[in-house]
Amino acid sequence: TTPPAKSSAVLGFDSIAGSKTDAVAIPAGYSAYVLAPWGTPLNSKANAWQADGSNTAEDQANAVGMHHDGMHFFPLNDAADDGLLCINHEYIDQNALHPMGPTADANGKRTVIDEIRKEINAHGVSVVRIQLKDGMWQVVENDPHNRRFTGATVMDIAGPLAYTSYLETRYSPDGSQARGTLNNCGNGYTPWGTYLTCEENWPGYFVNKGELTDDQRRIGISTSDTRYGWNHLAGDNDERLDEFARFDITASGSSAQSDYRNEANGHGYIVEIDPYNPNSRAVKRTALGRFRHEGCTFGKLEAGKPITFYSGHDSRFEYLYKFVSDALWDEADANSSNRIAMGDKYMNAGTLYVAKFSEDGVGEWLPLTLDSITTQGNTLADSFDSVAAIILNTAGAADLVGATPMDRPEWAAVDPFTGSVYLTLTNNTKRTTDTNPANPRLNNSFGHVIRWDEGDKATEFSWDIFVFGAPTSADEATNRSGLNDLNQFASPDGLAFDKRGILWVQTDNGADEVTEYTNDQMLAIVPSTLVDADDKQQVVSAETQAQLKRFFVGPNGCEVTGFAISPDYSTVFANIQHPDNWPYSDNAAEPTPAGTTIRPRAATVVIRKNDGGEVGV
Ligand code: FEO
Ligand code: CA
Ligand code: CA
Ligand code: CA
Repeated sequence: TTPPAKSSAVLGFDSIAGSKTDAVAIPAGYSAYVLAPWGTPLNSKANAWQADGSNTAEDQANAVGMHHDGMHFFPLNDAADDGLLCINHEYIDQNALHPMGPTADANGKRTVIDEIRKEINAHGVSVVRIQLKDGMWQVVENDPHNRRFTGATVMDIAGPLAYTSYLETRYSPDGSQARGTLNNCGNGYTPWGTYLTCEENWPGYFVNKGELTDDQRRIGISTSDTRYGWNHLAGDNDERLDEFARFDITASGSSAQSDYRNEANGHGYIVEIDPYNPNSRAVKRTALGRFRHEGCTFGKLEAGKPITFYSGHDSRFEYLYKFVSDALWDEADANSSNRIAMGDKYMNAGTLYVAKFSEDGVGEWLPLTLDSITTQGNTLADSFDSVAAIILNTAGAADLVGATPMDRPEWAAVDPFTGSVYLTLTNNTKRTTDTNPANPRLNNSFGHVIRWDEGDKATEFSWDIFVFGAPTSADEATNRSGLNDLNQFASPDGLAFDKRGILWVQTDNGADEVTEYTNDQMLAIVPSTLVDADDKQQVVSAETQAQLKRFFVGPNGCEVTGFAISPDYSTVFANIQHPDNWPYSDNAAEPTPAGTTIRPRAATVVIRKNDGGEVGV
């Protein structure tokens, strides 16, 4: 049956005021509590979280990681009260992680091995069994599904880069595996029940003190230092410290087996995890491109048609990509028990495209294949000798074909009714010249949300801008969507549709004009109901802006990111990343008392109606 083209959902809460406290804010009739904060033990190998920062690396390997980000709920046995929450852990705060911050010698070299291991273990992904008992979601400690993937976990490589010389390392001489996943920001999931975690700002974890390769230069591998100093342990050269030395990828020997030159080539991918099978290995799906992946979202599914995955490269002037599978969608595959084999079927072979927003409303997907024509009239084969080489330097190939530089593409979300794809463009204050139709504001401090529909051909799409972020203090040229105090926002980042057609927009705010009014937040709107007489969906205009409602505000200092919902819509899960001084108690809405300083913990917040009804309506 064809679903109706419009959602019947009507937001049933009043937009809430901005908030600037060490607590979350929610609409009347709702409550919010803390679930699975950083350090929550997943099994008995982990000691309880210690408020003095004294937990060990071993504790951290068996407990929830730090700085929660993208997330998805996978029901068990189709239940609405029992499932697996997969949570990304984007990065760490070394000062909060350790009792007194990182320990180093007078030269800045790290001196405590367990601290570095703890930092690596605080990255990655948590798989957490949770159950609703007596109206409260709880972590099921020691459940066999509970797992940690960290910055050191061994993962398989699949797709065009697997078994190529680019991936040959000391650890994996045949180029079939890589160690760890880092800076897991946005997420996705697949129609066959796996989790997708996205490697975003991984280049900063590596350093090359020699000559950069083209792809390293293009993506921004550091030439001076690594983000957390994992590579420079005082008194190194001990073979057991291979686990840290590998972050220095300077070519120093005669081959990839004598140094770590290829170590970073195992990073920058979409990583597939089967949460239902605790014995499965994670797989890096290289066919979806190598860049700073923010998220990964599949397009409207149709039996007998390819599956499309969208992913933004979150950096200023970077691009939007899609991957179109060679395999055609077979609905029976949704129920396969061999989920990683489904990933092999749909995510290893296909075509990667990059977006060109040609003119107002018109877009073109440019394939990144060897015969693709460059803006100079050559082909990519003149610059790359294989598809693997193109993927290794995806952004460099996209430069050559003339992709449109965007204002930091973050998450994408697909309307379940219309199939339209929405994408957050978080901000770009470095756009001082050269606007383009899709990124029309100079000094774009506040960001916008763009939207497109696929055309009849895989290379065509049509697009418009859905809403512009802005403070109410801005003039009309900036506040183009007519936002008011009850929905002003900036820096849209997390984005998700639920199956009722409600679009949830989360912010990661860098704009003082809005932060002086409110902390980061989550808003909601039902886009498929905003249609004009010609049945064309509208930009959020003066007539429709009242339908964009503020649902949730986070505590001081945080970013609100990651969205999940229970199958009965009675629970929304959202993540609080890097709060200043929160949570004070299990009640997420209880402010930390003035004058009280606590060790901050990123956490998932459970948001429910007090009467147990559907959230949002
Ligand atoms: Fe990690 Fe682009 O946000
Ligand atoms: Ca983000
Ligand atoms: Ca962001
Ligand atoms: Ca962040």
